[in-house]
Amino acid sequence: LPRDLYGEERANSVGLDLAQASARDRVARALTAFDREDQLMASPLVAGHAVDGAAHQVMSPVDMARQVGAVVDASVEDVDTAFDSAVAAQPGWDRRGGKARGAILRAMGDAMEADMDRLLAIMAIEAGKTLADGIAEVREAVDFCRYYAAQAEREFDSAVRLPGPAGETNHLGMKGRGVFVTISPWNFPLAIFAGQIAAALAAGNTVLAKPAEQTPLIAFEAVRMFHAAGLPADVLHLLPGRGEIVGAALTTDPRTAGVAFTGSTEVARLINRSLAARETAIAPLVAETGGLNGMFVDTTALKEQVIDDAINSAFGSAGQRCSALRVIFLPEDTADEIIEGLAGAMDELQIGDPTDPATDVGPVIDNEAREILLRHVERMEAGAKIIKQIDVGDKFDSGFFFGPTLVELPSLDLLEREVFGPILHVVRYKRKEMTAIAAELADKGYGLTLGIHSRLSSFHRQIQSLVPAGNIYVNRNMVGAVVGVQPFGGEGLSGTGPKAGGPHYLHRFAGERTVTINI
Ligand code: NAD
Ligand code: ALA
Repeated sequence: LPRDLYGEERANSVGLDLAQASARDRVARALTAFDREDQLMASPLVAGHAVDGAAHQVMSPVDMARQVGAVVDASVEDVDTAFDSAVAAQPGWDRRGGKARGAILRAMGDAMEADMDRLLAIMAIEAGKTLADGIAEVREAVDFCRYYAAQAEREFDSAVRLPGPAGETNHLGMKGRGVFVTISPWNFPLAIFAGQIAAALAAGNTVLAKPAEQTPLIAFEAVRMFHAAGLPADVLHLLPGRGEIVGAALTTDPRTAGVAFTGSTEVARLINRSLAARETAIAPLVAETGGLNGMFVDTTALKEQVIDDAINSAFGSAGQRCSALRVIFLPEDTADEIIEGLAGAMDELQIGDPTDPATDVGPVIDNEAREILLRHVERMEAGAKIIKQIDVGDKFDSGFFFGPTLVELPSLDLLEREVFGPILHVVRYKRKEMTAIAAELADKGYGLTLGIHSRLSSFHRQIQSLVPAGNIYVNRNMVGAVVGVQPFGGEGLSGTGPKAGGPHYLHRFAGERTVTINI
């Protein structure tokens, strides 16, 4: 097994290989079982009790007529009760120590791995995730649990002795901060949802988790699995509901000791303001937000590889990844050839039912998301050139499908912010303009992923020095960071900087205490 930073052996979850007939059969059985099941039901889980109330429908983005289940939203009173319970439970959970907490997280990882087929069936129908994306997502959720478990086991049970003057001892130890609020997006409804929770728990916090409005069902399954894996009911509470109601109640509450948020830059700003406005303890915000991610190509790049990696990075997951490629910069000498290749490759994309193993691109999440994309393309029609837009035919009327689109921009001025979906922008550059164009991208203020395609290390260095980014990918695609291998997270408008799945992430969820004893 490979070794991690600390010399410990670790391996990532292997998932399912859809190239194998047995794996396809397993998934097909899970999908059939899911079709036959009664509708899924989600509700707040407060101190282990499923809260009753008026439920509203959860619809599938794949088929607008399909109700996947129903959800009862949490009330502000539920939030209050959950806080009381989580505050009371936190010192005991912290005292259990890293090894005991790690054991529960490992059990959760094992349970998700064993139930992978069912989890990806739910995500395919509730979130429109393709099977391949669903498998990657469950693997990532499992990896987060195991990775943070290992760190809790290693770092949270004993204080580190520090050198000091004769006559005293100095120790530095880690502990939980209190009640952590976790707020997650719909595009990684299991991996990010469970990853935030696992990190906060591993560090000794109790957790109030708010999933995205669009994906409460998979979140409910995950919380039930955490509890079944041995997590006490008062240590993790689920509070589904609208961001501006439940999210706001969570982040303005004086008992919140920290917030882990993944979502849009705008909401991260709102949460930051809410936390700052409280008169109580100053609470940290771990924010992971969007990106305006570029890929820079020079004339030495292998064109076929550029095309493959750009298609995969821009249109995979229907472009609904924060890491996705949004704008590719092509040298004028090879731009026509690469654009032609991109347009040709777009024709090959299979768009449709995410439960079909052959599907490359599923739907976008909902009508609002599609409307934003449609309005963006309308705006582009005025000032840019639509090179290609794939027609999704009658799928447009049955589900929230949106055809992958390639747009050539005259300049970056037309692109101010992240556009979250399968739209790839192209900008051509002359060699002498490259520095100015890279600086223009940097000026937009984001800093999440960056792609570079070139055989010249001088070009790699130059682009890296010009464009801020938390994750840089050279001569490959720029999505799908792997836990413990590519710790993931951005800077600037893209987040507060911590790297999920990296060795320093848990520290952001922990308090540190130095004890000095005069002997
Ligand atoms: P969003 O910001 O609209 O919502 C995210 C979460 O915030 C949801 O749970 C929502 O209910 C909650 N929320 C909304 N308003 C709130 C408020 N006032 N107070 C508290 N919580 C509130 O984002 P989204 O549309 O769900 O997700 C897409 C965004 O997430 C994109 O911008 C994408 O780039 C980003 N994202 C970033 C990463 C990363 O790791 N950097 C990963 C995935 C997604
Ligand atoms: N961590 C996800 C990726 O790398 C967002 O694509």
